[in-house]
Amino acid sequence: VPDPDLILGIETSCDETAAAVVRSGRHVLANVIASQHELHAEYRGVVPEIASRAHAERILPVVRRALAEAGAAYGHIGAVAVGHRPGLIGSLLVGVSAAKALAWSLDVPLVGVDHVRAHLYAGCLDTDEPAYPAVGLVVSGGHTALYRCDSPTRVRRIGSTIDDAVGEAYDKAAAILGLPFPGGPSLDRLASTGGGDPRAVEFPVSRLAPDSLDFSFSGLKTAMLYAVRGVPEDPRRPGRAVAPPPLTAARRADLAASFQRAAVGAVMLKLRRALDRAPGARTLLIGGGVSANSLLRAEVAALGAERGLDVRLPRKDLCLDNAAMIAGLAHPLLAERGGAGDGLDLAADPTPAP
Ligand code: KG4
Ligand code: ZN
Repeated sequence: VPDPDLILGIETSCDETAAAVVRSGRHVLANVIASQHELHAEYRGVVPEIASRAHAERILPVVRRALAEAGAAYGHIGAVAVGHRPGLIGSLLVGVSAAKALAWSLDVPLVGVDHVRAHLYAGCLDTDEPAYPAVGLVVSGGHTALYRCDSPTRVRRIGSTIDDAVGEAYDKAAAILGLPFPGGPSLDRLASTGGGDPRAVEFPVSRLAPDSLDFSFSGLKTAMLYAVRGVPEDPRRPGRAVAPPPLTAARRADLAASFQRAAVGAVMLKLRRALDRAPGARTLLIGGGVSANSLLRAEVAALGAERGLDVRLPRKDLCLDNAAMIAGLAHPLLAERGGAGDGLDLAADPTPAP
């Protein structure tokens, strides 16, 4: 018989095919993630058509493995949750279609879950329930935003990037430096263990207006391009072109450390601003791929200690895209609606929630 507290989660919004089984919105019984990194590496970025085809091939084996690891059968599942927004439309459609088919055939509720809001829930898994209100920060390859959270389901965005996400800036900077794909972790590794000087290169830290909680990372990306390739000649202001210094191993390590300092500095600046404006906040919820970053983790932990906040930094497998966060957040969402799921007309939606 189905156990209403046992939720199967499915996540296919970008390039990880993921399924998880979570009990009572808290206990992760299985968290299976099939990464497609090797399929996209030669293109140095996610190719949407390749991603959706790989999801279609992998989704059922991944779901079966999650059930096996959880020691559960299809008949035990009480609800099927799916990340249905935002993301690549072809990728989302695979997960949403699979979730609908499973929910319909098992005759259990279907729950559409917002992928970005679910990142904020990752730090609530396999641990106790945090205190609210909380300030939330999502830092990933597609999103960089701040939130005010009154509960896991009552979440309001208070700031977001006006151009690139911080993870995207990491990936592009790593590509410019010639580091292996995926770029974020490679750049982090070089910055933290390469012996480079974080003050060697003065990279821009965007502030925007004095009261802004928005982010901007396109200037940082361009600054890395110019630092590596040189400043091009501007026909309106001739004579200002700058040839770059040779990209030696030492220079590369300096650039990585300096980039990391600027990127994390820009995130921390806005996080401090958000906390200044939320004096009642008791918890800091962090999520998204870049929350695996070594410097960001250290600085966020220090900020939490300084301000007496409970910091929820997810463990590494819950920072990156995963389905446990989807199955987890579905539990309070379902409870809030008295157990009623979404209809089979649930749409895959590429755009972020307002
Ligand atoms: O949350 P996620 O798996 O997918 C999105 O929803 O975007 O985040 C992936 C992003 C990529 O840009 C990746 O380079 C970045 O997270 N990332 C990192 C680190 N680990 C992953 N960026 C900086 N430092 C890391 N250690
Ligand atoms: Zn994500």
